[in-house]
Amino acid sequence: MKSKPPLLAIDILTLFPGMFEGPFRESMIRLAKRKGLVKIRVHNLRKFTHDRHRKCDDKPFGGGPGMVMMAQPIFDAVESLRKRGEDSRVILFSPQGKTFTQQVAGRMAGLKHLILICGHYEGVDERVRDGIVDEEISVGDFVLTGGELPAMCFVDGVVRLVPGVVGNSESVRQESFQNGTLDFPHYTRPSVFRGIEVPKVLLTGAHGKIEAWRREQSRLRTRQLRPDLLREERTGRI
Ligand SMILES: C[S@@+](CC[C@H](N)C(=O)[O-])C[C@H]1O[C@@H](n2cnc3c(N)ncnc32)[C@H](O)[C@@H]1O
Repeated sequence: MKSKPPLLAIDILTLFPGMFEGPFRESMIRLAKRKGLVKIRVHNLRKFTHDRHRKCDDKPFGGGPGMVMMAQPIFDAVESLRKRGEDSRVILFSPQGKTFTQQVAGRMAGLKHLILICGHYEGVDERVRDGIVDEEISVGDFVLTGGELPAMCFVDGVVRLVPGVVGNSESVRQESFQNGTLDFPHYTRPSVFRGIEVPKVLLTGAHGKIEAWRREQSRLRTRQLRPDLLREERTGRI
């Protein structure tokens, strides 16, 4: 019997494929791959270069420090991976991009094929950005050495929103940022730890009261830690 195609296929272009081995072999991503819900392939950009020495970077025109990733291997890789008739979205990781949020993750999880480009050194030749990239994504206002760690965060954040990956979809729905608020506090056994008691309402079994307490805690916590989220909720920006 023919197996069903994955809901989401992700191709990652990197000069350091070994960095992905551990994180993609564990936990939720491993499970998602095993269930056949996602297909993730990591490609060494050096395989796409025309250079005899597998060179993928060169000195910047105009001088200055560092190296720049060349356009040719990235163009060739993207063009060979784009599937005919399939809507492939090409993402470049960059500190200059739009911030990766839960909303962006949700939108990406609804797509069929993502091609992720991990920059390194001073970044990629600007013609990559102008010519083949659909979206630039940043994981925050700081500069990392390469796009590999951002790609891992991105893949984890997106894959867990693919339907069926997280066993209990309710647990995804109630998480921080899903509804413009932060998650409520969680407790597990024992009910008293080092003299600190679990809030009594959680031990009552009264589902209505527990729900109300959680909603209230969630708003309280958001007001204390991330009031900007509530402002965004009021102005309809999320
Ligand atoms: C050292 S950085 C280049 C920084 C670039 N010269 C600048 O100042 O904007 C090398 C690569 O790491 C990745 N990177 C670094 N910080 C990132 C961030 N905050 N979000 C996403 N990608 C990032 C990008 O792929 C980038 O091309």
